[in-house]
Amino acid sequence: MNHPLSRLATRAAYASRQLPRMAWYAGHVYVMRRLEEQVRRQEGVRARPAPRSDPRLKERLNDDMVALLEQDLANVEAGVYPLPEDHDGSILTMLNRSRLFFRDLPAVDERRKRNATREVLNAKTRGQRPHYYLQNFHFQSGGWLTEESADRYDTQVEVLFKGTANAMRRQALPPLAEAFAGHDQRTLRLIDIGCGTGRFLDSVKQVWPRLPTLGLDLSEAYIRHAQRHLKRWSRSNLVVADAEAIPAPDNSCNAVTSIFMLHELPPKVRRTVIGEAARVLKPGGRLILVDSLQRGDVPQYDEMLERFPQHYHEPYYQSYVIEDFSAMARRRGFVHRRDTKAFVSKVMVFDKKAR
Ligand SMILES: C[S@@+](CC[C@H](N)C(=O)[O-])C[C@H]1O[C@@H](n2cnc3c(N)ncnc32)[C@H](O)[C@@H]1O
Repeated sequence: MNHPLSRLATRAAYASRQLPRMAWYAGHVYVMRRLEEQVRRQEGVRARPAPRSDPRLKERLNDDMVALLEQDLANVEAGVYPLPEDHDGSILTMLNRSRLFFRDLPAVDERRKRNATREVLNAKTRGQRPHYYLQNFHFQSGGWLTEESADRYDTQVEVLFKGTANAMRRQALPPLAEAFAGHDQRTLRLIDIGCGTGRFLDSVKQVWPRLPTLGLDLSEAYIRHAQRHLKRWSRSNLVVADAEAIPAPDNSCNAVTSIFMLHELPPKVRRTVIGEAARVLKPGGRLILVDSLQRGDVPQYDEMLERFPQHYHEPYYQSYVIEDFSAMARRRGFVHRRDTKAFVSKVMVFDKKAR
């Protein structure tokens, strides 16, 4: 049992890191809303009365956000992972990322108005990536393809989740710790598919610094960003590759993770990717998916999940929220262990059947 004073110190340290971070991103939401109102006024559009936010929905969202933070802290106190370092960079880096984020908002708004979703499909990119991939997901400039998009990405995600994206990602660590218990980390292998800018892999390395990891993503720019972000760690390999053809031998790794990626994939690709995870995992290996809640998980959120893809360009989200992952994974040789809610996301845990 921890000494009460040391528990207090842990809680104070946790709060002193997480609360200012959340306030920073919540501040972005506030400024973004004010800017949107200003633009509407300038355009002479009668300020649409803000949709009356259901106070019970807000309350539920707040409660679930607090529950996530409590769980994050409980995991630290239980020794599952150390006090998290978000490695957001210096204040100058953060300011620069905010500048990039705000500077892109008018272009995002324009694209949303015109429903322009295929700007990144051009003579240079056509055929270089799968057709579904060449879209302006979230209406963002550059889709997944440019350096600027990679530099803006983490601010965009943290603003969307009011500074809790990393805390949601970390909820994949407890089931990972279960799978790794009793093993020498140097003998294990983890593959993170659709690793993006490498934020989840950073959290993994904070717990298992000597674990050999492979992060793969189809975006060269995001992989370059991840390489810079993860350069403090050894045994960290990052490659540009398609999750539909994971560059790893059959039965070769102990864990496959994927964070916030599956809702971005067409249903057919989603199935292929889960099949690939099954192929590369050793018998008994663990697959952990963290992604949006689905329809019915929290009935109060169903309407919000319905609206989400209309505002952000999320072409496959509607099929995602009704996808039966349990059945899909079972057909590919997995046993579904559990789902755990984490604010607006959930952690899905599967084990590949031992032979
Ligand atoms: C919403 S981002 C999630 C990134 C990261 N996992 C995170 O935690 O933020 C989705 C990522 O999936 C990648 N992606 C989409 N389709 C892919 C595919 N077939 N193979 C590899 N990566 C893919 C995109 O390039 C993008 O970086």
